[in-house]
Amino acid sequence: MKALLIWAVLLNFYKLLKTGDCTSTHDQVLSIQVTTHQQADIVRNMSSQYETVLWSPASPEHIRADTEVHLFVPANNLGTVTDLLKTHHLIYQVLLDNTEELIEMQTRNESSDPRSSASYYERYHSLEDIYYWINKTAQEHPDMVKVILIGSSYEKRPLYVLKLSGRQERAEKRAIWIDCGIHAREWISPAFCLWFVQYSLNFYNLNNDITEMLNSMDIYVLPVMNPDGYKYTWTTNRMWRKNRSLSKESNCVGTDLNRNFDANWCTKGASNRPCDEIYCGQFPESEPEAEAVANFLRSHKDSVKLYLSIHSYGQMLLFPYSCSNEEVPNHAELFELVQEAAMKIRRHYRNNYKYGASAKTIYLAPGGSDDWAYNLGIHYSFTFELEDRGRYGFLLPPSFISKACNEALLALKSIALRVIQKT
Ligand code: ARG
Ligand code: ZN
Repeated sequence: MKALLIWAVLLNFYKLLKTGDCTSTHDQVLSIQVTTHQQADIVRNMSSQYETVLWSPASPEHIRADTEVHLFVPANNLGTVTDLLKTHHLIYQVLLDNTEELIEMQTRNESSDPRSSASYYERYHSLEDIYYWINKTAQEHPDMVKVILIGSSYEKRPLYVLKLSGRQERAEKRAIWIDCGIHAREWISPAFCLWFVQYSLNFYNLNNDITEMLNSMDIYVLPVMNPDGYKYTWTTNRMWRKNRSLSKESNCVGTDLNRNFDANWCTKGASNRPCDEIYCGQFPESEPEAEAVANFLRSHKDSVKLYLSIHSYGQMLLFPYSCSNEEVPNHAELFELVQEAAMKIRRHYRNNYKYGASAKTIYLAPGGSDDWAYNLGIHYSFTFELEDRGRYGFLLPPSFISKACNEALLALKSIALRVIQKT
């Protein structure tokens, strides 16, 4: 114990010496309040110049006067970045001052930490774990779960969908589609898909809502739409967003799968530069992950009535369009659905979710799966941004998983039951 302590002190001392900065030896996340246009320019440049990673908004072009920016800054850049902020009178605070520790908390495993009593669903899981879980879940519930292989990723990993069905036979069943993990670093998203499947299987015939949902609709769940990116966030770079496809014209890796669908593809709000976080790819559905989902939905478009894509963070219940400021024909109806769902979250969990049409609620983001699904004819199409609002961002500790998932589950049930009445 004593030796460990001395070692830790020495290590910290070494880190201090190495960085030459006494403020912090840790990678931090800063919250920066941008107020003027000039400041917006500074922060925009800063987020692309240094080895920083923009957490929010998703791309520098969305930084304007009056934007709260969340920026991940590695320890070796902290001095430079904070000096620059001070020079330009930018007000900032340290949102997270020890991201390494939070990452360690997110990746810590039950077996190596007997003190933690959290269940499987209150922890984050590696890709291998999730593949294992998919198999085991299907084996344990052969009457309700089927595994469907819908395609494979750029690096040839399988894309498995779980098809959940109630035990009641119906002639022509409608269906719900839920995908998680389009963006690699949004770990709460796959955690939600696992949570939802488990909840469905455990509470079928016990909870009225889920029973009604499963009796009237099949539910397709894609737990990890971007397995290559997800794997990469576990092994190499926790902050990775895109998939891992290589580009011909650049050394930069990855396409933003939520900009790769055929909905005003690669217009304002997406980028045609492979190095950008919101790179739209070479052409619509150029990425095998997006193509696999699009193919599956095309071939099931008559039965799928409700499309749902799970992201984080920001606490928002969104519906199309993202790709334009136009209102969809059933805007008022969709607005009511998310309003009601947000109200339930507020009542039950005392938590506020924003809601509305995506382009107006966050920013223009063309090429998204929700808009594409809407245009395909799935007129109940939603994107949820789960917890939190930026306190921990992508590094949401495992102890928050259950609340984040229960909120989203409540919203999903609320919307799905309405859609069952309507369709
Ligand atoms: N934060 C998400 C993104 O940047 C927004 C999702 C809203 N829907 C959309 N189609 N963009 O992709
Ligand atoms: Zn996302």
